[in-house]
Amino acid sequence: MAKLDEFPTGERRIVQVGQRTIGVFRVGDRFYAMNNYCPHMGGPLCEGRTKPWLSSAAPGEFVLDEQEALVACPWHGWEYDLATGQSFLGPGEPPARAYEVTVERGTPERIAGGRNGRRPGPYVAETFPVHVEDSYVVVDTSSRPVAAGAAGGER
Ligand code: FES
Repeated sequence: MAKLDEFPTGERRIVQVGQRTIGVFRVGDRFYAMNNYCPHMGGPLCEGRTKPWLSSAAPGEFVLDEQEALVACPWHGWEYDLATGQSFLGPGEPPARAYEVTVERGTPERIAGGRNGRRPGPYVAETFPVHVEDSYVVVDTSSRPVAAGAAGGER
């Protein structure tokens, strides 16, 4: 689909594959592919802004993960993990939340199903495996064939 050396990190390509439109993102050395269709209300999800995952192990300590990112739908702002398609922060939610804090012994654990303390939202965008083959970036849509006559129902 695209030559590896013509696909620099931080770039995205939005391509037509059959009846689907798929966004392919390069984040660091990794590639991600996602259906350009927001499960919230059908917005052009892959045209939204991306940002790296930010984590914090302690107050004042922040780490940007340069290999993983979120994309925010340009219509209403739901954010989706490029790797899993899981939605997080959505419309009407403040960008920072207040949480009750307790001090416990042991290792910190993530909120069930969440990540870095973020709660999963109700939506999951369709994602596709991506690999590099002979210097080409290849998106594998074979495991999710487009059903005949699915025009309009699936992008
Ligand atoms: S359509 Fe994407 S957030 Fe609403």
